[in-house]
Amino acid sequence: MTFPYFVMSAACACLLSLTGCATTQAPSQHVVRTTGGVVVSVDRYASDIGAAVLRRGGHAVDAAVAVGFALAVTWPEAGNVGGGGFMLVREATGEAIFVDYRETAPAAAGPTYFLDAAGRVDPQRVRLGGWSAGIPGTVAGLAAAHARYGRLPWKSLVEPAVALARDGFIVDDRLTAGLAAQLPELTQFQATRDVFFHGGKTPVAPGERLSQADLARVLETVAKDGPRAFYEGPLASGMVEAMKAAGGSWTAADLAAYRVVIRQPLRFTFRGLSLLAAPPPSSSGVAIGEMLAILDGLAPESLTAGAPQTLHLLAETMRRAFLDRALHLGDPDHVPAVTTDAARLLTPAHAAERRTSIDRGRASRSAALAPPGLLSAPAEGSDTTHFSVVDAAGNAVANTYTIEESFGSKAVLPGYGFLLNNELHDFNVKPGHTDRSGAVGTAPNQVAPGKRPLSSMAPLMVERATTEAGVTRHGELVAVLGSPGGRTIINTVFQVFLNLFVFKLAPEAAVAAPRVHHQWMPDRLFVEREVPTATIEALLGMGHSVERLPRNLGHANTIVREGDRWVGIVDARRGGHAAAAP
Ligand code: DON
Repeated sequence: MTFPYFVMSAACACLLSLTGCATTQAPSQHVVRTTGGVVVSVDRYASDIGAAVLRRGGHAVDAAVAVGFALAVTWPEAGNVGGGGFMLVREATGEAIFVDYRETAPAAAGPTYFLDAAGRVDPQRVRLGGWSAGIPGTVAGLAAAHARYGRLPWKSLVEPAVALARDGFIVDDRLTAGLAAQLPELTQFQATRDVFFHGGKTPVAPGERLSQADLARVLETVAKDGPRAFYEGPLASGMVEAMKAAGGSWTAADLAAYRVVIRQPLRFTFRGLSLLAAPPPSSSGVAIGEMLAILDGLAPESLTAGAPQTLHLLAETMRRAFLDRALHLGDPDHVPAVTTDAARLLTPAHAAERRTSIDRGRASRSAALAPPGLLSAPAEGSDTTHFSVVDAAGNAVANTYTIEESFGSKAVLPGYGFLLNNELHDFNVKPGHTDRSGAVGTAPNQVAPGKRPLSSMAPLMVERATTEAGVTRHGELVAVLGSPGGRTIINTVFQVFLNLFVFKLAPEAAVAAPRVHHQWMPDRLFVEREVPTATIEALLGMGHSVERLPRNLGHANTIVREGDRWVGIVDARRGGHAAAAP
């Protein structure tokens, strides 16, 4: 499984010859400015592999495919082949698509999928092991994007990840800390112990080389035989058998039926900008659009970033958008009303109606905003990962993908070496039960076979726009945004956008500025620990219930236009690497 640090250089040289990447030992860089292409991700190996693809003449999508597979090896907390996500692609011409490769519920899933005989939510079934795993979409999603835009051969984009899995990569302290933090749950599963722990109980250490032979075999099959090999044929049928042993409900038919959906990005304008955002089954585009429409009537330009009055109005805006999220959003292919409701939530009339209950000096009560009968009487995990890519021609990718919680369901699929997601946890697991803790039980996001769980992932792009005589013209791309963080993703991306384009902070400051989060229920304003005490006191004085978070909100790996250059910015909250491809 692991080898001592001193054998690294020889094997690393072999890895380098396969990937053409720069040294893997150089310190990571958090900011890069270039007139060429950029890749910004949580991991140095992955960013360097992406930049090498750009240097070989690859399209931004080619780089994104290589980064996506590399992170499945080097960032097992969230990088994956066993999960799903969203890729927003914008060509330099302005044409854009949204690749929805969200996981789907297996045929066995239904409203009672997570309940025990007494009708209570079974916490094991929801979070740990195979039962909570949706049908993975990542391999199909990366392939769908590649089929449309790729210039380099598929195999050449998967191979760097095969090499990393087979030959190993050097573990960093973040992976070790992540494994240690989740140790009791991860070590419940033999296959997980075999991959990541010495003697079943000691996490791989920083500086050790971690190789993953089973994962290398899966990736090699996908590289050689193509993406359908993950869904049909011997690899797929073997995974289904292993899944039975892992307590899951997948069938061969579930895997064979998995389909990517190509959607139109949501588009809305704000102050001379056009935003390309994630449509349902992500809730993020609708929520961000609704929040901007509410803010539009609150003179946001007159506000100062981080001031108590600003944070108060942001909290009130967030509170209302998250109530609408709970009431109306889900998978539009299963709940047709989602499409019409989403369109209505984005109208100025709806924003005006939501704005009327905002008091500039006083916090509202979330329960008082809820429709009668909604409330019956835990925060989501925090691991997913977002990477941004722009190539020298200006084609761009914003990709957020996930296995839901940190290390997903904690179970590696025995014999296949990848962590299973616990994405089905994003459904409203107890139908009809919405409460003040943040549990939501409304109909649009209840479990059904083949359905995609509602997501908060928010790949987002911003372009200049001019509107004359009611016609909007789309101009140059100015930012590529996104983040992990469960429901907090929406507010992280919203605040990075406001910092850049309304409060006019410099790119680095826009990503670094302390963030806040309100999600309607629980009725609490979460603030990062860097928010000053005086600000918190002012918010308490306005009637907010404020909670300082022990950890930071999100990880917004961002690319911003600055004159004729791109600035790639790693969010220092979790680190990573910004690689240029001049
Ligand atoms: O799709 C979603 O919204 C969640 N499953 C994302 C989970 C997440 O961001 C956890 N991470 N940091």
